[in-house]
Amino acid sequence: TEKPLKVAVTGAAGQIGYSLLFRLASGALTGDRPVELRLLEIEPALKTLEGVVMELDDCAFPGLAGIEIGSEAETIFDGVNLALLVGARPRGPGMERGDLLEANGAIFTAQGKALNSVAADDVRIGVTGNPANTNALIALKNAPDIPAERFSALTRLDHNRAISQLAAKTGAPVTDITKMTIWGNHSATQYPDLFRAEVGGRNAAEVVGDQEWLENTFIPTVAKRGAAIIEARGSSSAASAASATIDAARDWLYGSAAGDWVSMAVVSDGSYGVPEGLVSSFPVTTRDGDWTIVEGLEIDDFSRGRIDASTAELADERDAVTQLGLI
Ligand code: NAI
Repeated sequence: TEKPLKVAVTGAAGQIGYSLLFRLASGALTGDRPVELRLLEIEPALKTLEGVVMELDDCAFPGLAGIEIGSEAETIFDGVNLALLVGARPRGPGMERGDLLEANGAIFTAQGKALNSVAADDVRIGVTGNPANTNALIALKNAPDIPAERFSALTRLDHNRAISQLAAKTGAPVTDITKMTIWGNHSATQYPDLFRAEVGGRNAAEVVGDQEWLENTFIPTVAKRGAAIIEARGSSSAASAASATIDAARDWLYGSAAGDWVSMAVVSDGSYGVPEGLVSSFPVTTRDGDWTIVEGLEIDDFSRGRIDASTAELADERDAVTQLGLI
C-alpha cells in the first residue's frame, strides 16, 4: 500500500479542527491513500485535543495510519507533506489590528521557521488562520529554504460561497458554475468576480443581467458571509471552512478540473497589476502540487477598481508586519 500522506493541522482542538480532522481521516483529501495526522496545539488545549483523538480512534477509520499530538512545532511538523495552518489568535476585545498582526506574527514566524527546518522536501502549506494572506506571507518569509510557491492562503471558502450565491440566483446547479474568481484579500475587501465566471458556459454577469444585484447584493453577501454566520450561529463558520480547506488542498495536490479554475491566495508575480510578493487571491489552475495563475483575462474598469482596493489593503498589512519586524 501507498505510504501515508503526513498532514499537520495546527489549532487542531479548535472549531475548524473538529470538522477538518474527521474529514481528513475519512479520506476526503487522499481517497484510498492513508493519512497520518500530526496535530499541533498550544499547551492548555492539549487535553481537549486528547478528547478529539479519542473520538478519532472511536471512528476506526480504515485510512487513518497514525496520530501524533503536541505543542512543539519542530516535533509535529517533522517530515510533513502538507501543513494546514488553522490555529491563530482571534481578535479579542479592545485588540487593534496591529495587536492582531503582532500576536499572529509570533505564531507564523515560529511555524514558518519550524517548517523550514523539519518539513518534508515536497511540503505544501495552506494557511486558514486569519489574517490568512498576511499570515502566509509571514510564514513564507520565515522559511527561506521552502519555495514561496509552496505557501497558499485560503480563499476557497469565499469562492465556494460565491458559487453557492450565484447558483441560487440563477437556479443553476453548482456543478454548472465555472471560472469563479475571488481576487485579493480574504477580508471584506475581497472581490468575487462574476465578469469572468460562467453559468452553463455562458458569461455569469450577462446571465444575471443585473449590475445592481451584483454590486449591492452579491458582492457584499459573499464578502460579509462570515459575519452573517456568526450572527446566526453564535460562532464563526467552521464546518464550511474545514470543507473549503480540504477542497483547496485536494485541488492543489491532485489537480483542478479541466476547463475550470479555482481561487487560491498565492504569492504574486505581478500578474494583473497585483504588486509582486503580496499573497493575493487569483484564478489558478493546479496540477501535481503546483499552481499557475490563469493569464490573459481582460479586466474591466469596475473589476480593476475592486482588485486594486483589496490589494492596497494587503500592501498595508505587509507594511504593518514589516514595521513590526516580522518579515
Ligand atoms: P478556534 O478558536 O475554535 O480554534 C483555534 C485553535 O487554534 C484553538 O484551539 C487554539 O488553541 C489554537 N491555537 C492558537 N495558537 C496556536 C498556536 N500557536 N499553535 C497551535 N494552535 C494554536 O478557531 P476556529 O474557528 O477553528 O478558526 C481558526 C482560524 O481560522 C481563525 O483564525 C479564523 O479566523 C480562521 N478562519 C478562516 C477562514 C478562511 O476562510 N480563511 C474561515 C473561517 C475561519
